[in-house]
Amino acid sequence: MRRKLAAGNWKMNGTKGNLAQIEALASAFPDPACDVLICPPATLVAAAAALPDRRSVRIGGQDCHTGVAGAHTGDVSAAMLADAGATHVILGHSERRADHGETDALVRAKTDAAHAAGLIAVVCVGETEADRDAGRTLDVVAVQVTGSVPDTATAANTVIAYEPVWAIGTGRTPTLEQIAEVHDFLRAQLVARFDQGSDISLLYGGSVKPGNAAEIFAVSNVDGALVGGASLKAEDFGPIVAALS
Ligand code: G3H
Repeated sequence: MRRKLAAGNWKMNGTKGNLAQIEALASAFPDPACDVLICPPATLVAAAAALPDRRSVRIGGQDCHTGVAGAHTGDVSAAMLADAGATHVILGHSERRADHGETDALVRAKTDAAHAAGLIAVVCVGETEADRDAGRTLDVVAVQVTGSVPDTATAANTVIAYEPVWAIGTGRTPTLEQIAEVHDFLRAQLVARFDQGSDISLLYGGSVKPGNAAEIFAVSNVDGALVGGASLKAEDFGPIVAALS
């Protein structure tokens, strides 16, 4: 049985005042029928995890280093995120691949580090608009999953998020048929490679909103969402959690 996950990625947004959104979300869903995750910026992970009324809302990081500790100015290790109370970490987001030149090999090493620290890795893949226009979508995501996810991935330590780059923050989404095509393809890839491939959760990400969440969650092999802008406020993220529950 695959776990359903509503994951919010706050990206580089939020200061202490925004933590009240997590408690508002928690009180709206005291016993959610899906896992609920908020990944605030690294500065807020410890405070978010320590919120007195966080209830079942899980807290994650947005990136980690491949190492445990050392001379890496500005970086945060998976062990540090776990120590701060995180249970998950987003890895290989297209913004990190684009802004920081992250390769599949680096994302794989970070995923290994996350697993070693006991974190669940949310590994992101997705095609650019140029890739889609050229008919390369499935090839691109296959290469990314093969390269970014280590052989030791299980349903307990790994989640895959399919995020078309051109759908992120744009208000544009693929058709439901296009989402199904990629998710069914990724499921087949996971089943072929991993003992637990049929149980690894597959999230869709890219302009998920309260108004389109239910129809996206009804698509085959969509086990939840990785949500950016609409995760910042409980009033927006709440209906998305409800649509998955
Ligand atoms: O990690 C989240 C995704 O990049 C989606 O962002 O919901 O703002 O389009 P968005």
